[in-house]
Amino acid sequence: MTSDAAYGGAQVPQRKLTIPEIVAMKREGKKITMLTAYDVAFARLVDASGVDVILVGDSLGMVMLGHPTTVPVTMDDMVRHAAAVSRGSRHAVLVGDMPFGSYQTSREDALRNAARFLKEAGMDAVKLEGGHEVVETTRALVENGIAVMGHVGLTPQRVAQFGGFKVQAKSAEAARRLIDDCVSLEQAGCFSIVIESVPAPVAALATGAIGIPTIGIGAGPDCDGQVLVLHDVLGLFGEFKPKFAKRYAELGPIVVDALRRFDREVREGTFPDAEHSFTMKDAERTELERDLAEPRRPKKVV
Ligand code: KIV
Repeated sequence: MTSDAAYGGAQVPQRKLTIPEIVAMKREGKKITMLTAYDVAFARLVDASGVDVILVGDSLGMVMLGHPTTVPVTMDDMVRHAAAVSRGSRHAVLVGDMPFGSYQTSREDALRNAARFLKEAGMDAVKLEGGHEVVETTRALVENGIAVMGHVGLTPQRVAQFGGFKVQAKSAEAARRLIDDCVSLEQAGCFSIVIESVPAPVAALATGAIGIPTIGIGAGPDCDGQVLVLHDVLGLFGEFKPKFAKRYAELGPIVVDALRRFDREVREGTFPDAEHSFTMKDAERTELERDLAEPRRPKKVV
């Protein structure tokens, strides 16, 4: 750890965490923390906070790009943002979220796109949404050296099929399917699984049924770790607020207040002041003013 003035003196963790260390945290009974980030500035701050995993989520489609769902996000969107995040991170394990259409079409497409996250964007792993239907794809990625995080429950790329962002696995039958999916994903080689928007007892039973860590979002306190979307945590996304999205800060009004003060000071002429301006040596200034005062001789045309 080093104390870094740029982060308010926060202790910035130096050593890069590894995927085996994340997996071991479940056995050791240590909670895993994960947050999203989408650009270098916030990646530096999230990394400085000491969280274990940074997810470059396809939620960027909603919180960064203004789409109503994650469905329109492309691989190029993801790779550009993921590369920026990896330039800002030294400590956390980095996971790139495979966007809709990048892994469903064929095993080859899934391999090619997942490889882009590792080669072009510096990610350590990828995340795929789905249960039994992505087991074979997951196995192919893992066999080819790509670490995979699963994602079950409310998988936002299927929001139209679900009829909205709704809690999943509420019946005993659906909960059983979700737990079976978790077991299959573990057998396919996933190193951890996100469980989103399911009743807390279902996530607790799924967590007990597998040996790899579960990371919950809207899935109660008994998962091995927790993830939230950064813009929800900081109060920077006002379009809607899921019940599970605890706000640890309300940065929106703070940002608008700062921008209003800039706007006011420029209009009233108090910014920039001497502190924020560059000076010139008196002699240089006098010479320049004398030069400008003399009438200019016409240039000789040769
Ligand atoms: O895209 C995302 O941010 C996610 C998290 C909500 C887990 O998938």
